Amino acid sequence: MAIQKIGVLGIGQMGVGIVQIAAQAGFDVLASDISEEKNQKAKAKIEKSLGRLVEKEKISASDRDNVLAKIKWTTANKDFADQDLIIEAITENVEAKVKLFGELDKIAKSDAILATNTSSISVTRLAAATGRPEKVIGMHFFNPVPVMKLLEVIRAVQTDDATFKIATETGEKLGKQVVSVKDSAAFIVNRTLLPFLNEAMFTLYEGIGSAEDIDKACKLGLNHPMGPLELADFVGLDTLLAVLDVMYKEFGDTKYRACPLLRKYVEAGWYGRKTGRGFYNYQA
Ligand code: CAA
Repeated sequence: MAIQKIGVLGIGQMGVGIVQIAAQAGFDVLASDISEEKNQKAKAKIEKSLGRLVEKEKISASDRDNVLAKIKWTTANKDFADQDLIIEAITENVEAKVKLFGELDKIAKSDAILATNTSSISVTRLAAATGRPEKVIGMHFFNPVPVMKLLEVIRAVQTDDATFKIATETGEKLGKQVVSVKDSAAFIVNRTLLPFLNEAMFTLYEGIGSAEDIDKACKLGLNHPMGPLELADFVGLDTLLAVLDVMYKEFGDTKYRACPLLRKYVEAGWYGRKTGRGFYNYQA
């Protein structure tokens, strides 16, 4: 099956980027979040992002209009019935994702592929919530989606070869380089990244350095584009805590225990850049 229509469910930080690159790659895109207000916010973000590309003369104003015209918006899951590939990018909550995959399975046409952008949750478990487990796969993008070149394609134990091939080819059409990953908590990138970010948080928690110095040290000492605390704020502290908790539960290894400071900040509603406060204050 050739993918023409891509539906994206959950238009937060990641979903909005997926919608943009799918429309830029020429797919017909259906984007959906839980409210009209959230859709409007996402639409404004995409307009702004494409506007920057016009200013930099990377695309023309008519290219921008053509990309925007490729995107349809809805708040109703039933509208996903004719999509070829549905990419779920809702919040990192296993119960919510399991419920959604069960619903999508009933709505989507029988040959549609159901993909998840989860950072850590078992794709196998989501596949088992459907009557088409062989057509369920992980497509894990990186933030900011329009910039980051990687796509992790994660095979659930049930995923068949045809689904893997289509997901890989679609990822390449979206301009990404694909790595194939076995379904294991946090996959490749987050498995290696999260212990690093968590350790930076412990370094702050134990008073070894200030947030600014920890970030400066890692940026200059490791040549990273962002320091670990700055990156944690950028990704979202709620997401990082959810991923660490999945890893801790899955592997039963204390090296994945979340830094208490991270848990406290999430309890305070300090999720990083998206809420205006995290390891740094973005409101000032
Ligand atoms: N959307 C689209 N384009 C963006 C963008 C966005 N949100 N943010 C930056 N860009 C573009 C800019 O327009 C610019 O493009 P040009 O070079 O064509 O002009 C380019 O990216 C560089 O941006 P800036 O000059 O503004 O800033 P920078 O050089 O500091 O780069 C950055 C910004 C790309 C975000 C860089 O700091 C970086 O790579 N940071 C690390 C990001 C990272 O590690 N992401 C992975 C997180 S882990 C994850 O996502 C997985 C998970 O499940 C948790």
